[in-house]
Amino acid sequence: MELSDENGIAPASAQGLRGRVAIVTGASRGVGRALVEEFTAQGAHVVAVARGAELLNELATKIGPACIPFACDLTSSESVENLARFVDEKWKRLDILIGNAAIMGPRTLVSALDESGWAHVIDTNVTANWRLVHAFDRLLRASSAGRAIFMTSGSGSRAQMAAGRGAYAISKAALDALARTYASETIESAVRVMLANPGPLRTGLRASVAPNEDPMSLRTPADFAPKVLEMCLESWTQTGRIYDFPLDKVLDFVGPA
Ligand SMILES: NC(=O)c1ccc[n+]([C@@H]2O[C@H](COP(=O)([O-])OP(=O)(O)OC[C@H]3O[C@@H](n4cnc5c(N)ncnc54)[C@H](OP(=O)(O)O)[C@@H]3O)[C@@H](O)[C@H]2O)c1
Repeated sequence: MELSDENGIAPASAQGLRGRVAIVTGASRGVGRALVEEFTAQGAHVVAVARGAELLNELATKIGPACIPFACDLTSSESVENLARFVDEKWKRLDILIGNAAIMGPRTLVSALDESGWAHVIDTNVTANWRLVHAFDRLLRASSAGRAIFMTSGSGSRAQMAAGRGAYAISKAALDALARTYASETIESAVRVMLANPGPLRTGLRASVAPNEDPMSLRTPADFAPKVLEMCLESWTQTGRIYDFPLDKVLDFVGPA
């Protein structure tokens, strides 16, 4: 599969996210944390989700009441349903869903992966995002302009499925399919669904796969966050496509030539 260039990302809007209700998963560090900071600065109420409560609470203390920490393991359906109940009871709608949490998992040949390593990566990176779609579809449709954005990776689409990446690239390719399918299923609604590829950013996940790289040579999650914000605006119209931060372009999926 190849990706072809499509229209560029929409011009920034001045309307911000005032009063919008957002969930950001993987909010305790890296990309997710930067998104919480960006969205709350633009006026959104953000439910910040990760497993570890300590970093979430620190973030909420720093930001104030606009950041609502919610410790939740996304591999548990019950926890995701609790999260949806919390949002439903408080706001009756969800304007922005950011499916960002992921793990790298064991980097080995797929033939050498043990089943628990495989299952944990697929559960966290794919099934957890399906759980979010399943739990929040009604609340996203209740919004005047529901936005769902899933954080993918070039390793799931742009790369040649190189050896030794374990299940990560496979999980991101499946996530791309999940998001594109959900985009098709919501096309008649006000919901818009995008994928975003951050490219290499200065985070713990990146450091774990490129330990010899100078982190200071990389752009930061804070550089990326305003681009994700643009896709969350009510004025955003595209769906089922992928925003590629290294190229700063919205790309379309095309089948094998
Ligand atoms: N950084 C890059 O260079 C890069 C490049 C391409 C794509 N991406 C993608 O961008 C996204 C963010 O990456 P990152 O670099 O910011 O990662 P990161 O720094 O490792 O952060 C991952 C976040 O996910 C949370 N998380 C992991 N498992 C979870 C679970 N089961 N339930 C709830 N939360 C969970 C972690 O918190 P807890 O551990 O407390 O749960 C943490 O907040 C990922 O989807 C990644 O694949 C990143």
